[in-house]
Amino acid sequence: MQLFVNGKEREVDVENDMPLLWVLRDELGITGVKYGCGIAQCGACTVHMDGVAVRSCQVSAATAEGADIVTIEGLGTPETMHAVQEAWVEHQVAQCGYCQSGQIMQAATLLDMNPDPTDTDIDLVMSGNLCRCGTYPRIRAAVKSAASKMKEA
Ligand code: FES
Ligand code: FES
Repeated sequence: MQLFVNGKEREVDVENDMPLLWVLRDELGITGVKYGCGIAQCGACTVHMDGVAVRSCQVSAATAEGADIVTIEGLGTPETMHAVQEAWVEHQVAQCGYCQSGQIMQAATLLDMNPDPTDTDIDLVMSGNLCRCGTYPRIRAAVKSAASKMKEA
């Protein structure tokens, strides 16, 4: 089947029900997206599908066919970072880093939908993205900082 990932058509030979997370990591070598739980409980596998944050462990390859899939690798580059990525660097959010691509992808859609989130809004939308290292205060600060940057842009 044909998938559209990070702005490119990619052909993959997989079963219809293979989770998108497997397709991205094992078939396409896109490893920024992480496997945490496999049951929609951690958010480590979060990517964008048609601009909305989804848990790629719960999306089948067949469902993803034809959609615009974006992973952390497609959100920005080291040279031209997304405002959320810039804020993450400024606030040195990551500790071990394992959950962080999912956190960033979730935060990016939060700001698309709500450009001026309160602490409560942030906590609510980000609550499905778990961080064993407890980086939540820095995540909140970085989301606010990204919101300011996006307003100025
Ligand atoms: S691996 Fe998908 S939500 Fe945890
Ligand atoms: S930074 Fe380690 S799990 Fe979140």
